[in-house]
Formats: sequence, C-alpha cells, structure tokens
Amino acid sequence: MGTWWKKVAKAVQHEGREGEGVDRQAAEEFIRLYHAENPAAGSGRPRVRDVLAEIDRTGMYTHTPGELAFGARVAWRNSSRCIGRLYWRSLRIRDRRHVDTADGIVDECVEHLRVAGNRGRIRPTITVFAPDRPGKPAARIRNDQLIRYAGHRQPDGSVVGDPVNAELTDRARALGWQPSGGRFEVLPLLIDVKGVTELRTVPEEVVMEVPITHPHYPWFADLGLRWHAVPAISNMCLEIGGLCYPTAPFNGWYMGTEIGARNLADADRYDQLPLIARRLGMDTSNDRTLWRDHALVELNVAVLHSYAEAGVTMTDHHTEARRFMTHLEKEERSGRVCPADWSWIVPPLSGALTPVFHRYYDDVRLTPAFAHHTPVAAPTGDRT
Ligand code: ARG
Repeated sequence: MGTWWKKVAKAVQHEGREGEGVDRQAAEEFIRLYHAENPAAGSGRPRVRDVLAEIDRTGMYTHTPGELAFGARVAWRNSSRCIGRLYWRSLRIRDRRHVDTADGIVDECVEHLRVAGNRGRIRPTITVFAPDRPGKPAARIRNDQLIRYAGHRQPDGSVVGDPVNAELTDRARALGWQPSGGRFEVLPLLIDVKGVTELRTVPEEVVMEVPITHPHYPWFADLGLRWHAVPAISNMCLEIGGLCYPTAPFNGWYMGTEIGARNLADADRYDQLPLIARRLGMDTSNDRTLWRDHALVELNVAVLHSYAEAGVTMTDHHTEARRFMTHLEKEERSGRVCPADWSWIVPPLSGALTPVFHRYYDDVRLTPAFAHHTPVAAPTGDRT
C-alpha cells in the first residue's frame, strides 16, 4: 500500500499545527522582543526559561497581560497594509481570553462596539478571546467585520446590498436567518464553536451609522446611502509568539476613501458612480468626460462631510498619508524596519497627490501579526 496520502495528511496537519505544541522558537523570539522593548519588565531570561519549560510540559503557554497588550500593538505596527499605524501604541486591549461560548463572545463584541464607538469619538480597540490550543481550536467569527451589510441575491442574478457579503448572507439564511432584504441590513454574527456554527444578531443600538449627504447637493441624500462608523475586523488571527488567537476583533477609525472610493464606488460593491454622475448632469457615454472621476470626488467629499456632521471620527487620505510618513521616520529612528505594501498604502483616490505614492517600501513579514489562517477544521453544523 502506498502511503502518499498519509504524508499529505501529515503536511496539512503540520500547517495548522493541529495537535502539536506551540513553536518554541517563535515563543522565545517574542519573549525576547517583549523584554528588549520593555526594559522595565526586567531581564527576559527567566521568563524564556519558564515559557519553554511550560511548552515542553503542556505544548502550550500563557501570555501575561503585558505580553498580550504588547503583542497586539506590535501586530498592528507590523500590518504592512495599514496606513494608520502612527498611533499603534494607543491600541486599547480588552483581555477576554476566558470567554469561549457563542453568547459570551457576542456580548463582548457588543461591548467592544460600544466602547470603541464611544458615541462617535472612535477609540482603536481590540478584544482578545481564547487562543487555539494544541488539538483544540478555539471559537471563530466567520464574518470579516463585526458590522457588515447583507448582500441579498435576486432571482435575476443581481444583488441588493453589499455584493461582497452575498456568500455570508447565503450562509446566514441557510442557518435560519430571516432578513428583511434591505440595502443596508446588518448581518448577524456567525460564530463557530466546537464544530457548530451559531447565529447571533448584533443589537441595533450598538450599530452606529452615518447617512451620507453632500455639502452642496441636496439631492445626494436621496441616494439613500449610509455607512457604519466602526470598521472592526473580526476574521483575522492575532499571532503572538507562536500562539494564535483566532477571535480578536480590532478596529481603528475609517479613512474616507475606504467608503467613498471603494465600498460605495467599486463596480462590484455599491456601484454608485454612474448614478451620481448622471445626477451631476455629466455625459456618461464617453469615458473621456471623466464622469467617473468627477463623481468619485463628489462622493468622497460627501463621505468626509457626513462623518464630520455626525461627529464620527474619520480621517482623510491627505492627512493620513502625512501621518504615515511621520510614522516611517519614527520607526526608522527607533532602528526598526517598517514593513509596508505599496499597493495597499497608496490611497485609491489621488494617489500621486500624497507623499506615500512617491517611494518604495520594505515588505517583510514580521510577527506578532494579524493573519488570515485557514480554519483548522470545517464545522459540521453548517450545511453550506
Ligand atoms: N476597508 C475596510 C472597510 O471599508 C476596513 C479595513 C480597516 N480600516 C480601518 N480604517 N481600520 O470596511
């Protein structure tokens, strides 16, 4: 009998490190980094020894609250796609490692949205739930953000709402969700716990939203556009010192272009540019009238204006690009490389008008990090 399939199975297992202990080297490197950057925590040597002994004994170890907070902040600092890293030290950490049930997780996500939303003065926040243990994957949130708008597939193949979430919407329906079918309908959270996907709704009172209006065009309000205040990424693993926290929703505040030049503008998202251009009276039959570009600028003016009116924190791409240059200088002065991915850092509007366009970056992968890990096991309670 050939055993090739056993080898494949082994390789796949190794990738998820299922059933294996935590990577000793990753643990040691992180503890050293923590002590190097936090001299007040004393020499790292005894801690390294204890951590390695614990891994040898149990396959696992536990971060101190200080290590966890540092690890989460550095994961942000290492996020090469994020232009907003200047304030990485200000990230608030909510240590909820003891919470591992669907109800417990939802309650804490709701509290996260309340604390982070802070009635409009948004605070960068992360809530960290239980880590994966050898052979025992922790709970996971399937939604890529805590607040996402459903994409309802229509019989004619079109989608009402956000097409990017059509698949998640299908899954929620298959699990019994009964949507009303609106364009900006907040999806329930899908949480995998012990191989079963559970559905939980996010209460309306923590979903802060901003209706989009334009400072000069009253008709803009009639487009019925809106967006939520807090972008809270919920499907990335927080990787610290060989440990993986698969449920660790985190948020910053929005930069206008994310909404104005992508979510509401992309042809495979809300696709609003043709409509806006026509309302502006532009000739949309010819690319060279630059009707798309013109509509795009007005939409972005509207987004920035609306968030300011509503008293919700939002940055613009000029300010944020300048801040990022400051961040790069500071990191360099601290003797660190700042990994950055040009194609994500350069804003999707007026790229060359911002300083971040006119240079190249190192894009190395550093840890701690936020990462997309493939789930260890497909849940059985889900039939989609
Ligand atoms: N681009 C994503 C969105 O439009 C959010 C990503 C995180 N953004 C942030 N400003 N922290 O929803």
